[in-house]
Amino acid sequence: MELRLGFMASHNGSNVEAIIGNIENKNLEALAKVVISNNSDAEVLKMARDKNIPYTCLSSKNYPDFNLLEQAIIGTMRDNDVNLVILAGYMKLLGEDVVNAYRNRILNIHPSLLPNHGGRGMYGIRIHEAVINSDDEETGATVHVVNGDYDDGRILAQCIIPRYERDTPETLAERVLRFEHVLYSQVLRDIQKGIINLDE
Ligand code: GRF
Repeated sequence: MELRLGFMASHNGSNVEAIIGNIENKNLEALAKVVISNNSDAEVLKMARDKNIPYTCLSSKNYPDFNLLEQAIIGTMRDNDVNLVILAGYMKLLGEDVVNAYRNRILNIHPSLLPNHGGRGMYGIRIHEAVINSDDEETGATVHVVNGDYDDGRILAQCIIPRYERDTPETLAERVLRFEHVLYSQVLRDIQKGIINLDE
């Protein structure tokens, strides 16, 4: 499948950067079509600007009406010929309109072994705190299809990452993020090659 990617991220966008880096280095056959953030100060928008990738900020500030915001997201993706939406640290829940417009074509990455430590309110350092406060001997990262619920939807790939005795939520977060940067591109490669079928 030809990959024409539209990214959505709220903050750093290190996952977006890792994927775009792999595209630039020819380690991933894909096109980076557009970057959308809900946060006008997001680093991910600066990165897109520096790399000459179209970018825009779409949020409840410029679209107080949620339905219009959803239409703006769909319009931006379509105008840029996106066929696969890549969420990476996008902190808002997408609504029905976007999910239906891109059914089975929206992916997300989550820094735990879903279904563990996922769901509403589980984001950022909280996830790693929950792992530290559990008996889990390992953690991980998950790439899944987005179906409109928090961290739900078909799991496409996971990697297991050990938890060490000295780990803090911060050391765990840093280790998991490094693995995320590898996992997301690997999943995209498998989709591009037809090894993962998103319509299954
Ligand atoms: C990642 O840990 C991702 O799994 C989660 O949000 C974080 C985003 O990090 N959904 P970054 O913005 O890609 O650096």
